[in-house]
Amino acid sequence: MEGDGLAALRPGIAPPQRIDLGDLLIRRWEPADSSARFEAIAASYEHLRLWMDWAAQPITLAHQQAFGETVAKSWPTANGSFNYGMFDSDGTILGALGLHDRLGPPAVEIGYWCHTAHTGRGVVTRCAGALTEIALALPGVERVEIHCDAANIRSAAVAQRLGYHLDRIAPRPKRAPAESGRGMFWFKHR
Ligand SMILES: CC(C)(COP(=O)(O)OP(=O)(O)OC[C@H]1O[C@@H](n2cnc3c(N)ncnc32)[C@H](O)[C@@H]1OP(=O)(O)O)[C@@H](O)C(=O)NCCC(=O)NCCS
Repeated sequence: MEGDGLAALRPGIAPPQRIDLGDLLIRRWEPADSSARFEAIAASYEHLRLWMDWAAQPITLAHQQAFGETVAKSWPTANGSFNYGMFDSDGTILGALGLHDRLGPPAVEIGYWCHTAHTGRGVVTRCAGALTEIALALPGVERVEIHCDAANIRSAAVAQRLGYHLDRIAPRPKRAPAESGRGMFWFKHR
């Protein structure tokens, strides 16, 4: 189960740094993105704080800069968390996407958030779908999971749209203000 310390990905096996979808680009965060990411989070704060546990901490530029440096230094192992930005063709930050190797073999987890100005146009579904296919093609990965609170209808809709199936609904700790304390565990198999 979650956090047992085992990794699905062997050393040297990592997803790509850039995934080009034509009109959308998924790429590893770079330190130079920190200010724009800070602004995107600040603009989206009211919807992020409802669902994202990390938004309970103060959102500061310094923290975003430290995060940017950590992501840059840790790649390609990424300490098991491959953190990407989602960008429009003009470089605008649309949101964030992560591939997390923290469930133990043979599963990895995908997480996401969207800039509040860019929801409702399929950005997250398309980007999470592309990352799902890439993850399922990595050696050692047989399953990708999306975990969301049962009250997070929009997040569940992303998983559903991508053909994940609901493995179970089970109690899990409430970590953000809008959460119900019941988690949905969505699975997609190779
Ligand atoms: C969860 C979250 C990322 C979902 O964002 P979203 O905008 O609903 O998702 P998408 O970007 O995939 O957009 C889906 C919408 O675009 C539409 N769409 C348009 N073109 C599309 C396309 N090519 N492909 C898929 N959907 C498309 C869909 O029909 C859907 O429309 P709807 O809003 O009328 O239902 C967003 O609500 C969010 O950031 N929430 C706060 C953070 C959070 O909860 N993260 C997840 C924690 S588990």
